[in-house]
Parts: sequence; C-alpha cells; structure tokens
Amino acid sequence: MKTFSFALLVLAMPVLVVAQSVTHFDAGAKVFRLDGGNSSYVFGVNARGELQQLYWGGRLGATDSFPKAKPAMDWASFDDSYSNTPQEYAGWGAGLFVEPALKVTFADGNRDLVLHYESHTETANGFEVVLKDIKQPVYVTLHYAIDPESGILARSATIENRGTDAVTVEQAAAAAWALPAGHYTLNYLTGRWAGEWTLTQETVHPGARVLESRRGSTGHQANPWFAIQTGDADENHGDVWFGALGWSGSWRITVEQDQLDAVRVTGGFNPFDFGYVLKAVARLETPVFYGGYSAHGLGGASRLLHRYEIAHILPRTQKTAGQPEPELRPVIYNSWEATEFKVTEAGQVALAEKAAALGVDRFVMDDGWFGQRKDDRAGLGDWYVNQEKFPHGLKPLIDKVHALGMDFGLWVEPEMVNPDSDLYRKHPDWVLHFPGRPETEQRNQLVLNLARPDVRDYILGFLDKILTDNDIAFLKWDYNRNWSEPGWDQLPAAEQKRVYVDFTRNLYGILADLRKKHPNVEIESCSGGGGRVDLGILRYTDEVWPSDNTDPFDRLSQQDGFSYAYTPQVMMAWVTDSPHWLNKRTTSVSYRMLSSMQGSLGIGANIANWTPEEAATAKRLIAAYHQVQPTIVQGDLYRLISPRNGSEFSATQTVNHDKSQSVVFAFIHSTQMGRIFPTLKLKGLDPAAQYALTPIEGKARAGAPAAASGAWWMNHGLDFSDDFRGDFQAAAFRLDKR
Ligand code: GLA
Repeated sequence: MKTFSFALLVLAMPVLVVAQSVTHFDAGAKVFRLDGGNSSYVFGVNARGELQQLYWGGRLGATDSFPKAKPAMDWASFDDSYSNTPQEYAGWGAGLFVEPALKVTFADGNRDLVLHYESHTETANGFEVVLKDIKQPVYVTLHYAIDPESGILARSATIENRGTDAVTVEQAAAAAWALPAGHYTLNYLTGRWAGEWTLTQETVHPGARVLESRRGSTGHQANPWFAIQTGDADENHGDVWFGALGWSGSWRITVEQDQLDAVRVTGGFNPFDFGYVLKAVARLETPVFYGGYSAHGLGGASRLLHRYEIAHILPRTQKTAGQPEPELRPVIYNSWEATEFKVTEAGQVALAEKAAALGVDRFVMDDGWFGQRKDDRAGLGDWYVNQEKFPHGLKPLIDKVHALGMDFGLWVEPEMVNPDSDLYRKHPDWVLHFPGRPETEQRNQLVLNLARPDVRDYILGFLDKILTDNDIAFLKWDYNRNWSEPGWDQLPAAEQKRVYVDFTRNLYGILADLRKKHPNVEIESCSGGGGRVDLGILRYTDEVWPSDNTDPFDRLSQQDGFSYAYTPQVMMAWVTDSPHWLNKRTTSVSYRMLSSMQGSLGIGANIANWTPEEAATAKRLIAAYHQVQPTIVQGDLYRLISPRNGSEFSATQTVNHDKSQSVVFAFIHSTQMGRIFPTLKLKGLDPAAQYALTPIEGKARAGAPAAASGAWWMNHGLDFSDDFRGDFQAAAFRLDKR
C-alpha cells in the first residue's frame, strides 16, 4: 500500500515543482519507509517483534527495498542483542542496558517491560505504530509524520495503560534515533544567563553525553537541540543528523555510543525526579522530537530547520492564518534598559515619541507598570495597573502610542509571585513548595504552581482581562527563575511528580486559549533572556528573547549559536546603549544596528540621550532594514565566517527563496597587522542571474562591479573597501536580481 502527499515547492527557477513525500509499508517484509525532501527513514518489525531502525539518511531510490529486519547479533553474553539492536522505542526489560525509551513500575513491583509490534495505521504523512508489552496491557503508539519538503520527521509517543492497576512511568522518551557505527562529532548549545548559545563541539566517545534541564523549564545552560556530523563534515558539506525536542519543561537528550560504536540519541521528559502515575485507561503524551538529515553540513541542517519552523512550528495570527509564512516581526522599541522599573506615563510617552520618529513599529512597555512594583522585591502576582505611575490606567499611553503610528505591547511574568504581594498573602499555598520546608527565593520571587487548576484559571483570567480591557497587540511573557522545592501537596504523595508534565501542559494550554480568544495578539517567550526557547513554546509564541546580553559583539556569536537551531525570524535583537552595561564596551550606533539587523530588529536604548546624528543613523538603517527584512529573517542563512573562537572577522548571508535578493553582513572585531577583510565568496545565488550590489552600510572596493552574475559573486566574491578596518566595524550590502 502506498500513500502519497504533495507539497508545492518553489525552487531556484520561478517554476512550480511538485515535491512528493511517500510513506510505504511493505507488508511482506514488515518494513516502514518514509521519504521527504532529500531524506529517507526506514524501520521494520524484526523476528522478535521489536521495532528496529533500518536506515536514516539521504533519500533512497523509489524502488529500493529492504529485507525483513533482523536483530543484531549477540556479540558476547555481556553484549547481547537486546542492547545492540537499534530499537525505535525500547522498553526497559529483557537484556537492555542502553538508554531505554520507556521505563515503568507495575503495581505488583514488576519492572520488566518488553515492547513488541502490535498494529499500525497509515496517516497523511506517516504512520501510527502500536507497540504492546509482551504480557501487560501497556500500549505505546508511536507517531511518525515526515515533512514532504524538508524531510524533517516529527516523532512522539502516547503511552496508555489499558489495565486496571496503576502503572508508574519513570522514564518516557519522545523518540530514539540511531546512527550506524562511525566517527562522529556532536554539536550542542550551552550557556548561562547573559551567555546563552555557545556552540559546543566534541567527538562522540563511548559512553553517554547527557544534555538536559532539571530546572522545570528549558534552561539557559543547555538547549534541546543536537547535530551529529560525520568526521569530515563541516558548515557546508557532509552528513549531518540533527534534532530538536519540543518541550519547555525539564528535558533530557542522551547521546550514547554503545560498546559496538553505534550511536543512539534518546530524548524526552527528563527522568530525573520523574514519576507519572497512569491510572486505568489513562494516557501520557510525550513531547515531539523532530529529527532531520542534511548532506550539506551544519549550514544545510539549519536551513532545513529554519524552513520547517517557519512553515510548520510558528503560530499564525488571524491576519496570517493559512499563509505560508508568519508575519514579519514589527521593529520594536522596548524601554527596559532605558528606564528599568522607573516607568511613568510621561516617561513612556516621551520615549514613544522618540521611537516613532526613528520609524519603530511597536512600542513595548516592560517591567514596572503593575501592582506595587518599584523594584524586583514586590508586585509580581498583582496584575493591576499601578495608580501612582498610571493614574488614568494604560489607555492614555496606548492611545498616544497608536496616534504615533505604532502598536502597543506589554511585559508580563504570569507564572511568578513575590512574597510581598497581595496574591501571595491570599494564596501562600499556590507556589511550588514542600509543606514545612523553606521556600527558596530567586530574584525575590517564587514560582506559582501552574499545574494547579485554580492557578491556571487565575493566570488565564487576568491575562484575558488585560487583553480585553486594553488594545494590546503583543505580550512579552517573561519567566525569571527556575524551580525549587517542586511539591504539589494537593495530590496524593505518589502522584505529585506529575507537576513536571502538567505545569508545562497548562502553560501551553493558557497560551493556546489566549490566542484563540485574542487571535491577533502576538507573544514573545522570554526567560531572563533565552531560558525558554524550544520547539514546544514556539508553537504558541511568535518570537523569543535570546539573551539579556545585548552587547553587539557578544551577540554576534550568540546569534551564530542560536541560528544552528532557530530561525532569525524569531530572534529578537535590540540595539542598546554604549558603553554596554555588561562588558563596558564602546561601539558605534552603526555597528550595533548591523549586529541587531541580522535578526528581528528592535531598539532598547535610552533614545532620549541619543545625539541627532545617532538618531539619524538608526532611522536610516531601520528604513533599510524594512526593505530587506523578509530576506534576512525568512531566507536561507549561510554562515560565511564564524565569529566564534576569537575570529577577527565574521560574516553572514541570507538569500530569499526565489533567489531574487540576498543580504550580506560583515563584522570586524579588531584589525590586526593592517589585514583587510577577506573576499567573501557568496552562496546560494542563481549563477546565471545578474545581481546589482547596493551598500546598506560601508563600501565595496573601488572598481568592484556594481552588478555581476551570481556566478561572479559566488566564484570571484565580494571585495570590501580597503578602508574597512578598525575596531568593531560593520558593513552590510544587498544584492538584487535585475
Ligand atoms: C528579564 C528580561 C528582561 C526584562 C526584565 C524585567 O530579565 O529578560 O528583558 O524584561 O526581566 O524585569
């Protein structure tokens, strides 16, 4: 049986090409095959009844077929076939020593779980495959859906107890991915507050490398994304397998090289402190683990992910419903670094006037407008407008912002409470806590237990009211600490750990409900910078705040790291003041603007203090940005020179999908020995087309062509002016097809 699904793809030429995704089940061999984009994924039912991965990589010929899956050999009594066979979703039982996908304890103390194929159904772009324990009525449905265009496969599992006794799930992955024995490099993203998005690269060694968050949310310290490349792969060439987990609670991805050198990547809920009681007929849905393959290096991998995120992950507003791309992010002004908590109606109006004069589209008021909020010691939880700061409510400010031609956004931190708040005084039991134990504060705040239905209702209620009472286009949704003492004493002791699942599900539920009731509102996920960025939250939020670190030089490497996993469409980037508060570095407005223009641009400086020249530069560059924004944030990104590892230079290029426009950014850290910027060989252009070069900032070398073929720009390359030297220098160009 074959099912076909079709997607329209616009390729290099302005010709419509039909991309075909095929899912195929070979009933004789019991082999499942999914093809999409340039990749194929194949698994089968082996003689023992296990679901076994057979292939993941470049797309195979349509007529190629696989024989029936065969369990791996018993290498030794110590290295048995249960562990050596790359199972799609292994229960912990029989002779399994490698990372299990699922581990349970039954009511009678039995902990053996052996999952065998039971049945399957075919869906539009994939399969639902049902596994069952060899004795107990525990069923697992594995969901597979391949994207016809990118070949990215979305995998998840539903675990179901069809018995009468409760089963405790101690570990549940979304999926396990397998790679054949080989020499690999693992790429992953690490960091800390104000230092997120470091691309970390290391050889895959025997044993396990655990990437995780135990913090209750995604975390700054590691991000749920990985890419594994073969030894000779690089930015532009070679085999790369990559994946991203869509979960904003505690998560874990284990990259394991087994005793026979095969590699497995297992990811889902973090099993640390996990315990989800499945009562009779109850189900547990895992997050989705997305995986893909590229033959074009890390650059190819991120281009596929970016396209997938834009087409399939990011939400749409009512205005953009059904459209292939989400709306471009408005250029915002945010007052946080200018005023911190000292917001007033007059002060915000003054900033709004300045922002409008620069060409800003959206004015966002940050922290400080509500409750008794004078600093970070009080007010969180009390979501009424502060009467002293805004005696007539928010309306006069919002009306003024609208009159200036901008829309209005507001900062909220819904899941948090200061002990110094009316909410905490009224409902001290609403926070995550263990009764009788200390409640650890961070930034003077506690975490509301969003898993509780009453807390969920409270949060949804006040947010709905704010959006109903005011003409608000955008919420910046912040989350400024991690969990501690994650107790939920409303539930029986054995069930309290379900807080790890229910908290995050309720967060998603509130976001979904708000979007439904207010279908044009847009939301940013912020968590003290980039502490909650993942493909789970990005289903409900239009953009993210990558870091509280807005130093334009640091941002180059942070943005580089970010771009391995996430599209520049969601990457908010503000221009702030100089010298920068964090590194005390002094840079020009032009350098700061170009650093931020690589993502979705915003201004976060105290623009009241800008000189007329600085304001004029910003205004000119905002106008230039507006003209090329779709190419920058929704085009194909090529990281031409990495800013990492102390590089003197860095450069990026984006090309829109019909290859009619490209934008190039180039940065110098500090010129040494008079070295001039290297000739940049561009990528991804149509070799036969003619492209005109227009400077956005800076100049090309005297005598460089004003227009040339794509072949010329890609083979000969772009030469920069000999004057392009110094410390913290930046240049940008656009190329337009003639
Ligand atoms: C976090 C955010 C900042 C700002 C402050 C306000 O740190 O990341 O952008 O909104 O909170 O308290």
